[in-house]
Amino acid sequence: NLRGVIFDLDGVIADTAVVHHAAWKKLAGEIGIPFDDSVGERLKGVDRRASLDILLEQAARTYSETEKEALASRKNDYYRQQIEGFGPQHLLPGARTAIESVRRAGLKTALASASRNAPLLLEKLGIADLFDYVVDANHIRHAKPDPEIFLAAARGLGLAPSECLGVEDAAAGIASIHSAGMKAVGIGQPQALAGADLLLPDVAAFDISRLTT
Ligand code: BG6
Ligand code: MG
Repeated sequence: NLRGVIFDLDGVIADTAVVHHAAWKKLAGEIGIPFDDSVGERLKGVDRRASLDILLEQAARTYSETEKEALASRKNDYYRQQIEGFGPQHLLPGARTAIESVRRAGLKTALASASRNAPLLLEKLGIADLFDYVVDANHIRHAKPDPEIFLAAARGLGLAPSECLGVEDAAAGIASIHSAGMKAVGIGQPQALAGADLLLPDVAAFDISRLTT
């Protein structure tokens, strides 16, 4: 019996997947590391440090811890420069309606984001009050695909994992939802999200009335 929906943020609600992608691509270019769309896809949903490690798989040399920290924070600076100008117009089409319809149907809503920038983004987008509970990368120890973040969201809602549904645009996120014992709605392309229980092209196609009956 479905009682709560747990949404990912970047690429599901906020039009930020492209911004993360562009920031990593810029950094990769500056340090001479090849960056194509398949690397870009692997970075989705993965936290900042793990993303850097994936990027550096292609590096011609090894990087020290200090260098890695500097690279990760440079990428974050590029990302933040773009987010600075964000507002409600950067919600993905249909996102607000999708979340509101879940609430109207009497279900709880939570956010599970791998991003440390999630609180800032929620404020910029003006949607913080749409969630009964928010878990972001600042609150957890094990990043997606580990189930910790979705389990913490369910616990925060006071629900059993089996009563929750997760919504994700990244393969790492679908894996996290499934390990948490929840059904997963994938938002995006079938080739990247083959494991999803239901696949939708975008969040505008999310229809809670078709999931509760
Ligand atoms: C995820 C994004 O939501 O957050 C990733 O899909 C991003 O692309 C990750 O790397 C971490 O974000 P941040 O803002 O903490 O660097
Ligand atoms: Mg995402």
